[in-house]
Amino acid sequence: MNNKNIGLIGCGAMGSALGKGFVKKVGIDPSKVYLYDVNKERMHTLANELNVVATENLSELVPHCQHIFIAVKPQDIEGLLYSMREMITRDQIFTSVAAGITINFIESCLSYESKVIRLMPNTPCLVGEGTIAISAGEHVTDEEKDEVEQLLKPLGLTIRLPEDLMDAATGLSGTGPAYVFLFIETMIDAGVAVGIRRDVATEMVIQNIIGSARMMQENDKHPAELRNTVTSPSGTTASALHVLEESGFRSCLLKSVIEATRRAKELRRG
Ligand SMILES: NC(=O)c1ccc[n+]([C@@H]2O[C@H](COP(=O)([O-])OP(=O)(O)OC[C@H]3O[C@@H](n4cnc5c(N)ncnc54)[C@H](OP(=O)(O)O)[C@@H]3O)[C@@H](O)[C@H]2O)c1
Repeated sequence: MNNKNIGLIGCGAMGSALGKGFVKKVGIDPSKVYLYDVNKERMHTLANELNVVATENLSELVPHCQHIFIAVKPQDIEGLLYSMREMITRDQIFTSVAAGITINFIESCLSYESKVIRLMPNTPCLVGEGTIAISAGEHVTDEEKDEVEQLLKPLGLTIRLPEDLMDAATGLSGTGPAYVFLFIETMIDAGVAVGIRRDVATEMVIQNIIGSARMMQENDKHPAELRNTVTSPSGTTASALHVLEESGFRSCLLKSVIEATRRAKELRRG
């Protein structure tokens, strides 16, 4: 992997998370990472930060990279793929993070023999704690799947999924950090509402999330069992849980994930 060049097309939120992860977490030699973005300012900011290669057009990237990661918005991918198709070769691997865009669609725009991988990562890849669902097209060999997975592992948890579950992965973990951030933000506001200073409440809530997640990771217990251990009869937690149930907390979260999954499917249909 170390002697192969990596191209990254699209340097926005997800492209930056991948690029930073490759250089800072995986330890890829920056001179082997090529960037391209129609937004030159965004591309140069990332290139300067990582000391990687910024390119002025696709022809400076595509023919020089064995792995090409595509991180543009779903609505921009078709035009991009068509403008690349004359430059590609059969041994290159194209990895897309675009929500809702199928492997078959990417093959149809490039070539039906292209090696295509579809990912659904999330932004915690920036700190090596991402969740990355992976699905590979039929022309990608097992060795190549392993190679891409090894490249992604330092960015977080990698999970291979059949492609028909990629929209569900978008709804659950691609979008997941937004649910957690909203939860954190609200908990901090709640801490302030009951009299705790905002900076102190922030520290407390973050640690609460980390600690609870680590308990789940380290104990082979159902979350309800862990919740029951902090719920004493007629206690404060029981009162709080009553309010959450009455307000439809679970149903609201369930509906959010289902709606995000539906929206991923809708984006695919354009
Ligand atoms: N953000 C997330 O948390 C997340 C999570 C999972 C998956 N994804 C997927 O990641 C992809 C990128 O999302 P994002 O949030 O990173 O979007 P973003 O911040 O808008 O970044 C996309 C970048 O690509 C540029 N671009 C557009 N067309 C291009 C082209 N033809 N060639 C080169 N660059 C082009 C855009 O420039 P302009 O702004 O000038 O158009 C922008 O700088 C999406 O497909 C999304 O489904 C995102």
